[in-house]
This record gives sequence, structure tokens and C-alpha cells, in this order.
Amino acid sequence: MPALLGAQALAVHFGGLRAVNEVSFDVAAGELLGLIGPNGAGKTTCLKAISGQGPLHGGQVTFEGRRIGTLPVHRRVMLGIGITHQIVRPLESLTVLDNVAFAWGHRHRASLLAAALHVQRDEARAAARAVLGRLGIAEFAERAAGEVPLGVRKRLEVARALAGEPRLLLLDEPLAGLNSAEASRLADLIRGLADGGLAVLLIEHNLGEVMRMCDRLVVLDAGRKIADGEPRALMSDPAVVRAYLGEEGDDARAG
Ligand SMILES: Nc1ncnc2c1ncn2[C@@H]1O[C@H](COP(=O)(O)OP(=O)(O)O)[C@@H](O)[C@H]1O
Ligand SMILES: [Mg+2]
Repeated sequence: MPALLGAQALAVHFGGLRAVNEVSFDVAAGELLGLIGPNGAGKTTCLKAISGQGPLHGGQVTFEGRRIGTLPVHRRVMLGIGITHQIVRPLESLTVLDNVAFAWGHRHRASLLAAALHVQRDEARAAARAVLGRLGIAEFAERAAGEVPLGVRKRLEVARALAGEPRLLLLDEPLAGLNSAEASRLADLIRGLADGGLAVLLIEHNLGEVMRMCDRLVVLDAGRKIADGEPRALMSDPAVVRAYLGEEGDDARAG
């Protein structure tokens, strides 16, 4: 089966810095791929090049074999790429439900132009309720997004990405800031989404959860891919160990 997402020789530079340097990998439907590496390795830059939220200076992104590397973000979303955004201030005052309904409308707006406004709203809210249920946060539907606990907020960010019924989900550190019990629960939920057929590309620093949840890992260091394979095999890969020990060494020197 061909890959759903293809990243071919991706390159992004900021001035003289090669933040992403000839990085290639692919993700299949139902696969949970972890993108890991030390701070500054180029993970977020890589994910943004794939979503269209950041620049792509070389290489190509394909989705179902189609080249999408120059499409604007909303076109990629409409093709079936689910992305997370920080919940910005105007959305914090909206309810959890309306945040997801808003994201649903974002994906469907083209097909709904002819529909009456109230139909759009009812349909969006019904879809949003279903997504909140899948993520176990339906009880928070009517609370303001800015007021819910962090664990709910992190799930809400995933819910917003899922609202457009994507086939590929892109997540940048979804477990960050959660305690270990909350992190495990969200990791299990994300694993369940992949088991349901979704392709997931995830950046995550929580290596314990990464090892437990991911089918495969791609390791970046200083903009380059240094390893690609099954989690267990990679943890004894000398290049991977060196990249992580190097980071600890730098931290120690920095005090
Ligand atoms: N908008 C930007 N302008 C200049 N440099 C950037 C920008 N975004 C990221 N960088 C640099 O690119 C490198 C990779 O950053 P990033 O992709 O955020 O790493 P990671 O997510 O792996 O921690 C870092 O050296 C970072 O400082
Ligand atoms: Mg990052």
C-alpha cells in the first residue's frame, strides 16, 4: 500500500541555518510515527513545512501521491490533514463545543457555502459533540475553553484537529505539561486513533510514552535524519544515543 504522506528531501533554512536538511520519510494509514530528537533538531520546522504553517525551501510533500508542498494551509486541511493550533485568545471565551464546531466549519466551509447558516451551525455542533465524546471530554462541552484544566485543553486541541475528519493528524508535543497519568491517557487515545485507521505524525519529548505508543520513529539531529525504524531497535542505535547524550552534555555545561 502506498504511503498516505510522503516527505521527500525536505529542506528549510533560516538565513545560514539549515534547520531541516534533506529529510525524507513517509507515513501510512493506521501508522503512528514519532518524530523525535534533541531541542532545536528541526522537528517543529519539519511539521510546519508539511502542514503549510511554515516555509518549505526544498524537497516535496505528497499526500496520496499528490504534490501539496505549495498549497496554503486551508487547502491541505480540506484534503484531509488535521493540524493543531494554539487556542488563541478570541477562542478562549468560546465554549469547548464551539471551538470544535468552529474548526469543523473551517474544514467544511467550501461545501457549506450554499447551506443555510443555521444548518451549518447545527451540523457543526453535532459533529463537534461526536468528537468531544471520542476524546472523553463531552462533559466540558459548555465550559469556556480558556477555563478548563490543562489536560482537557490538550485534548481539546486534538479534538479541533480531528473536527475536520482528517486522514492524517499532525501533533506537536501533545503530552507536554501533562502529569504522567494524563499523559498516558492521552497517549492511549492517540494510539486508538491510529488503530482506527488514521495516520498520525507526532512530535513528543516523553520518550517513555513515545516508546509505548509509536509504531516507528524518525530521529532528527541538527536538521538531519539520523535514524528511522522500530522504537526498541532505535534506542540502542549509537547515533541516537549520541544525539541524546550530547544534549544532556550541553545542558550540563550550560549549568
Ligand atoms: N522562524 C525561525 N527563524 C529563525 N530560526 C528558526 C525559526 N524557527 C526555528 N528556527 C531555528 O531552527 C532550528 C530548528 O528549530 P525547531 O524546528 O523549532 O526545533 P525542534 O522543534 O526540534 O526543537 C533551531 O535552531 C531554531 O532556533
Ligand atoms: Mg519543537
